[in-house]
Amino acid sequence: MIKRLIPAFIAITLFSCEQVETPQNEEQKPSATIKNHSYGNIDEISTNHLHLELNVDFENKSLAGVARHTMDNKGADKAVFDIKKINIEKVTLGKKGAETETTFTIGQYDSLLGAPLIVDLSSEDLFVNIYYSTQKDADALDWLPAELTGSKKYPFLYTQGQAILTRTWIPVQDTPENRFTYSADLKVPSELLALMSATNPTENNETGEYSFEMKQPIPSYLLALAVGELDYRQLSDNSGVYAEPHLIDAAEAEFKDIPKMIDAAEGLYGEYLWDVYDVIILPYSFPFGGMENPRLTFLTPTLIAGDGSLVSTVAHELAHSWSGNLVTNASWNDFWLNEGFTVYFENRIMEEVYGKEIADMLAMIEFQELKRSVDDLMAEGREKDTYLKLDLHGRDPDDGMTDIAYVKGAFFLKTIEEKVGREKFDVFLNAYFKAHEFKTLTTEKFVEYINENLFEKENIEFNLNEWIYGEGIPSNVIQLNSDRFVVAQELAQEVKDGNKLPTDLKRSDKITQEWLAFIRAFDGELSKEQMIMVDEQLNFKNSGNSEIMSEWFVLGIKNDYKEIRPEIKAFLKKVGRRKFLEPLYTTLAKTEETLEWGKEVYKEARPYYHAVSFHTIDKILGVNH
Ligand code: BES
Ligand code: ZN
Repeated sequence: MIKRLIPAFIAITLFSCEQVETPQNEEQKPSATIKNHSYGNIDEISTNHLHLELNVDFENKSLAGVARHTMDNKGADKAVFDIKKINIEKVTLGKKGAETETTFTIGQYDSLLGAPLIVDLSSEDLFVNIYYSTQKDADALDWLPAELTGSKKYPFLYTQGQAILTRTWIPVQDTPENRFTYSADLKVPSELLALMSATNPTENNETGEYSFEMKQPIPSYLLALAVGELDYRQLSDNSGVYAEPHLIDAAEAEFKDIPKMIDAAEGLYGEYLWDVYDVIILPYSFPFGGMENPRLTFLTPTLIAGDGSLVSTVAHELAHSWSGNLVTNASWNDFWLNEGFTVYFENRIMEEVYGKEIADMLAMIEFQELKRSVDDLMAEGREKDTYLKLDLHGRDPDDGMTDIAYVKGAFFLKTIEEKVGREKFDVFLNAYFKAHEFKTLTTEKFVEYINENLFEKENIEFNLNEWIYGEGIPSNVIQLNSDRFVVAQELAQEVKDGNKLPTDLKRSDKITQEWLAFIRAFDGELSKEQMIMVDEQLNFKNSGNSEIMSEWFVLGIKNDYKEIRPEIKAFLKKVGRRKFLEPLYTTLAKTEETLEWGKEVYKEARPYYHAVSFHTIDKILGVNH
């Protein structure tokens, strides 16, 4: 075994397991270079394969075990990993069974990034084994007690890695720039099923031991785990749905078109390279609509509207199997490469499966939101956050999760499509995905690639720089129209003019997006009396449709429509999806009286939310926990 020399400054601050939580003299702590929100020294040494051996302990709300990294070592004498809210027990070098303990240090803790875990090794070392356990409040982990799950019998656990939370449940070089394959051996309570973003079981076994494999290299933010009481229904040879038993029938019905979506996506941009596409319906606390964990998309149950009207989120997560999971943003500043391409691709899938009229309505609803977001960002003095290429240095990558990356990104691509023609654009996109599969990409590389392979080739002038490095929405943005939206807007005008709704009008007469266009057409100018009249006939407040309810509730708060507070409260105590919570609490925070009521509700509701959501709402309401 090679002798390891420990530099003096590291020796001074050496941590042992018991010392992890002991306050240290901060100045003595070594620091590591930060790049792309990570301390990982991937240019010198990087993970090629990760093997996890973990016990899932619901009682102590902790994952404990070992992360075995197989490294590509370019001659490094230390390997730096990211950790946050993780206890390190020991670090060893060498293959399993022939390991020797090595020294390590933990650098200065940063409340956003966590700390660097600096492991001493030699240039010949390829195997680093980190023995660790997670802390109760690890941000990625949502440990739901049995009372908060569907059956109320068993607890549930799921992870959310994107953007920089994987480091709170696994010690990794937590940057999207590096890719690795992974495998895992997990032990969970025997009544529960464990699933990962990898090969998955479809049934429980008696031992509670499950093994997983992800053969395609992925960035760290796509590592994912869910453990709960779960049933499985197959939808086609290579797709299916997991959900808690009380939701499995509804989920199977709602998402029955997944096989058609996969066919449509493959027809557009080439073979699906992840073998299986399953989805899992998580508990209501899940902070997002969906998360594109490879082979196993995570979904919010709020998509189950009963009429399939919110399935575009599944098309979105499926599209990430190309844009994002195959071709990955190199840093969070390039996030639009993931999300803009995905929203564009999502819309193409929707058009293939449901037709152009539906797809255009979806895009128009998003465009309305983009315009609002641009106005808000400008008003906040965040002009530069309306560029596609972001500068998130020293900031939370979450700040980049706005409609800019998503919708401005997608409309940029739609506008190019309109300019060059769909046929040529699709040829370009197919080549783009092929050329960069299993790679990461920066915005600058993308610009080079599209200039060379599309604009110069086809001799086309396009204001690419204005779109990517400029403010707001460029004036050549594609214009979309919808006759059905015009009808919805005329209906709103009728109500505005003091007329009643046609007596035979029912909510089922229009799809979700038409009702959103209807609500938005009031531009906030709907009186409380008119809201009561609309609710009497259309029952928005109890529609069970989360998109309509959240939009309606925001308007209700603004209009002092206090009669719907029980419904708003019930919603806030059930749904943890940040996209809905954020506008609701933001509106509540606007007047003293509503803020007070909002804080009271939040006190009860906060335990139902994932850390991603409650951190955001804490800030909005100005509460400290
Ligand atoms: N990858 C995102 C979710 C995400 C982004 C999580 C950044 C953490 C950091 C996912 O694909 C997504 O965009 N979800 C959207 C749905 C969509 C249809 C726009 C959501 O959750 O609302
Ligand atoms: Zn997305």
